[in-house]
Amino acid sequence: MTNHELFATRASRMKASEIRELLKLLDQPGIISFAGGIPDPALFPADAFSQAFQVALSPEKKAQALQYSVSEGYAPLREWLVDHMREIGVVCDIDNILITSGSQQALDYLGKLYLSPGDTALVGWPTYLGALAAFNAYEPRFDRLSVNGNRGADEYVAAAGAGRVKFAYLSPDFANPTGETMDLRGREALLDLAEDLNCAVIEDGAYQALRYEGEAIPPILALELARKGAIEDCRTIYCGSFSKTLSPGLRVGWVVAAKPVISQLVLMKQAADLHSATINQMAIDQVARACFDTHIPMLRQTYGARRGAMLDALEEYMPDGVEWTKPEGGMFVWLTLPVGTDGAALLSRALETVKVAFVPGQAFFPDGSGANTIRLSFSNSDEATIREGIRRLGEVLQA
Ligand SMILES: Cc1ncc(COP(=O)(O)O)c(C=O)c1O
Repeated sequence: MTNHELFATRASRMKASEIRELLKLLDQPGIISFAGGIPDPALFPADAFSQAFQVALSPEKKAQALQYSVSEGYAPLREWLVDHMREIGVVCDIDNILITSGSQQALDYLGKLYLSPGDTALVGWPTYLGALAAFNAYEPRFDRLSVNGNRGADEYVAAAGAGRVKFAYLSPDFANPTGETMDLRGREALLDLAEDLNCAVIEDGAYQALRYEGEAIPPILALELARKGAIEDCRTIYCGSFSKTLSPGLRVGWVVAAKPVISQLVLMKQAADLHSATINQMAIDQVARACFDTHIPMLRQTYGARRGAMLDALEEYMPDGVEWTKPEGGMFVWLTLPVGTDGAALLSRALETVKVAFVPGQAFFPDGSGANTIRLSFSNSDEATIREGIRRLGEVLQA
């Protein structure tokens, strides 16, 4: 007996992606995969974690490490984050920080906090698929975020109909999936638009630390702080993550925002999972203190070389009519194929004939457009493999 007819309406908006099913087949030998946007496990600071877990389980610490704890998160880690945020231009105090189980949890909570059914979420076209999935459960409409001045606040409000524009979500540094970075003018324009719309800004900083080229641009929250003087007056909510820098498996992320937002998120966390795993937060705290400052430059160098290898190989092997982004950091290059080329069909062909995998771009568009786009990740293969994979992809595209 099934009872699926009892599911809430939101359940019908949650769909397994066919692409994800296809990508489950990737573990076969010989496949070169540019599909997963995940860190290279060879680069995890495993020795530092091993030590950190030993310390956490030592006689002095084990009672705390294995016990329930507060929803706000492990205080020493929040203190480390106060310093870390100051280094990237955001002055806040510990009460402005909530630890979450990955930044994905923060996106879910923010959807839950802001979106009533029919409200509008402004997002990039394309944008991070996991954000669309998280917000979608709260039954919003999505509208295309554009800060180049061709759509004013009035237009967004008119399009929102009976609902309200509640927030703009974006990842300004090395976005997933495009790899693109929003320049300073874009960030300021976004803040102007958010003022006009009186909406929140959700700044996803998942890849913020992974810059390989060019000058760092201040986070949107830092720019708003410079305008307003105090975080309590800011509408921007910053979501950070240790997933791309230290370990995604421990599921530790954080939110920085004005205290009334944090207090409400704390209540949500109490209701959802009480708190993130204490021992994981303790381990992240120790490893961050021991080696964040040396680990990040190593990641930048390694991933930066892989990015270079991918861009060089694309230059060499892509046929005319294919365009791609030149990311200054992160893990992704985004390809636009000639109109009429279908990314999903190309994936089937590439898997079958040359054993190369990537993610077709369509899933990153709320309206299902973008069939002629694909996302390539360079984080998980060495340079020679990247070169060979792009050569093979070029072959399929030529054909
Ligand atoms: C842009 C972006 N935001 C958030 C996340 C979620 O990361 P986590 O929950 O591991 O912090 C990801 C993961 O791929 C991502 O690409």
